[in-house]
Amino acid sequence: MGEPAPVVVVTGASRGIGRAVAEALAREGAWVWAIARDGGALADVVTAIREAGGRADPLIYDLLEIQQAPRIVGEIVDRAGAIDGLVNNAGTTRRGPLTTITPDDYETVMGVNVKGLLFFTQAVVASMASGGAIVNLASLNAFDVLKGAGLYAASKAAVVQLTRAMAIDFADRGIRVNAVAPGFIETDFNAALWARPELRGWVTANTPLQRLGRPDDVVGVIRFLLSPDSQFVNGAVYVVDGGFLPTRLWPL
Ligand SMILES: NC(=O)c1ccc[n+]([C@@H]2O[C@H](COP(=O)([O-])OP(=O)(O)OC[C@H]3O[C@@H](n4cnc5c(N)ncnc54)[C@H](O)[C@@H]3O)[C@@H](O)[C@H]2O)c1
Repeated sequence: MGEPAPVVVVTGASRGIGRAVAEALAREGAWVWAIARDGGALADVVTAIREAGGRADPLIYDLLEIQQAPRIVGEIVDRAGAIDGLVNNAGTTRRGPLTTITPDDYETVMGVNVKGLLFFTQAVVASMASGGAIVNLASLNAFDVLKGAGLYAASKAAVVQLTRAMAIDFADRGIRVNAVAPGFIETDFNAALWARPELRGWVTANTPLQRLGRPDDVVGVIRFLLSPDSQFVNGAVYVVDGGFLPTRLWPL
């Protein structure tokens, strides 16, 4: 008998980057537990994975319901045994200047991106019997604050520091924790922005690779960070942005 399939949990797997990650991991033989709030969209993802010959199961869970996290993780462990990998991909945003951001905006963005991520991870870590790998989705906004995205930027900066703190605190369990910070990736998350030609034009003009990213552009780094190929990588943050952050293009 061969090695058992690694069990990997992907949050926010119903669409965008999370869906692309779930499909790619299943293609490689992982048993994927796909988590999101939207049961219909989740069912579509799981059906597509199964039709392609992969193994996936859906779990409906709202990351704001942190008291439910141990039950959700318990369901996975009961059926799949120990969890080997976790991709904390689910995320949300509320746009606007900090002069108008409301307590509800704060509770939602910080609640999903920071609090929900932390307490879901805590529950998963308790079930990682023999080590594991965790990848958190940060953002270029963790480093450069884009106008109108201040609250989101603060939440993603927190994800970066949580990643580093988790890398310390989970190391004695053999668990590595790293982050991926995508740049401008075309998904439903910011579809309204990419419908505006001037914003698309600004991104492509300021990105050395001259295009927006696609969900698949982020998948490879996440696969690497989950795999033994990155066995000595811990507490790192990989920026995946076509070169936007470290460069300034000017009309030379
Ligand atoms: N798209 C980009 O340009 C971009 C850039 C940088 C970082 N990111 C980050 O990458 C991750 C994925 O982004 P995306 O573009 O695929 O987003 P998306 O909006 O297409 O998908 C987000 C997923 O998160 C899930 N989700 C949101 N709130 C949730 C909650 N309370 N409980 C459970 N699930 C919830 C949604 O159901 C969905 O499946 C996010 O963390 C996002 O912040 C995206």
